[in-house]
Amino acid sequence: MAKINDNFLKLPGSYLFSTIAKKVAEYTEANPDKEVIKMGIGDVTRPLVPAVIEAMHKATDEMGTSEGFRGYGPEQGYDFLRNAIVEHDYKARGIDIAPDEVFVSDGAKSDCGNIGDIFSKDNKVAVCDPVYPVYVDTNAMAGRAGKYIADHWDNLVYMPCLAENGFMPQIPDEKADMIYLCFPNNPTGVAATREQLKPWIEYAKKNNAVILYDSAYEAFISDPDVPHSIYEIEGAKEVAIEFRSFSKTAGFTGTRCAYTVVPHELKIDGTELNGLWNRRQCTKFNGVPYVIQRAAEAVYTDEGHKEIRENIDYYLKNASIIREALTEAGLEVYGGVNAPYIWAKTPDGMKSWDFFDKLLKEAGVVTTPGAGFGPSGEGYIRLTAFNTLENTIKAMEKIKAIL
Ligand code: MLT
Repeated sequence: MAKINDNFLKLPGSYLFSTIAKKVAEYTEANPDKEVIKMGIGDVTRPLVPAVIEAMHKATDEMGTSEGFRGYGPEQGYDFLRNAIVEHDYKARGIDIAPDEVFVSDGAKSDCGNIGDIFSKDNKVAVCDPVYPVYVDTNAMAGRAGKYIADHWDNLVYMPCLAENGFMPQIPDEKADMIYLCFPNNPTGVAATREQLKPWIEYAKKNNAVILYDSAYEAFISDPDVPHSIYEIEGAKEVAIEFRSFSKTAGFTGTRCAYTVVPHELKIDGTELNGLWNRRQCTKFNGVPYVIQRAAEAVYTDEGHKEIRENIDYYLKNASIIREALTEAGLEVYGGVNAPYIWAKTPDGMKSWDFFDKLLKEAGVVTTPGAGFGPSGEGYIRLTAFNTLENTIKAMEKIKAIL
């Protein structure tokens, strides 16, 4: 008899953003005349920039010629894109990363989940709390999270990120082997400085742990003390894998392109993780389409860079409008300065899902309940800055009116 992976049966409910989408769909079906402004899932709304579109068109035309046609590409990504990444995202910041340490993929979400393939089931996993649910759910699927009891997994190390500690995870007392860090953070929107990251590198070295560093939101950093890459910290190449994405940086959520850096220095018992990840990708992945990789390459041209910068600034302006409006409405507000996410405390100790319902039903605004990101997210909601300026202003007026 075939057996299923029964770890899936331990997962509570559905994936957070699917649950929210279902709730919103039910509400709009029941209230077809009510306007709903979505500030829930962090999905971009600005169109792809002209430099990207132009590169896509050109690559599409090439694919229609005998000389320019490409079949399977390299599983790790085309050299033109790996070189551009190394040049612009690393060398330009004084970081020495080799092109063969960069693996182009279809998303940071997939990579953050798939990376578990190269780690033993017996590793102890530490996550921030609240946390991007992908790290938790994928480890639960792999059997590393233990059992789900009430609101948490009994084999994960939760690192509470609370207002009292500036939403910064503290070094855990117990030993962890795999540590997920995400800065600028999803969901709290706070960013770690170089000084705040240093102890994590020391901890990982001392405990032979690996840091899984998600920097999908680095393009939103406006503070010079905040590093864009974990590799800005000395010694990080020996202990960290970094995930990056074109999704939020360049509006590729529907286009799909990202990359993961696995340095050669990163070894466990003498085995390079770079080789394992390469083996995994070659076996399970056939690469990102040529047209999309050319589009991603265009992000690094002068034009492309200028154009995506305008979009990022547009979203950051929305973030500051949200911060200001919620503060005026009397809420405690965090994030939104180096990140597209704003983390707000619910009023009068309301539960996150109750406040989510109130905002949806009374203001027509979709948010994400903090409790969906982990036990320490209870009592908070997350809003995203990924909307039009007009909708952002309108949503904030509606929220202010009901609070
Ligand atoms: C979010 O809303 O947290 C993000 O959209 C999730 C993602 O990038 O997968």
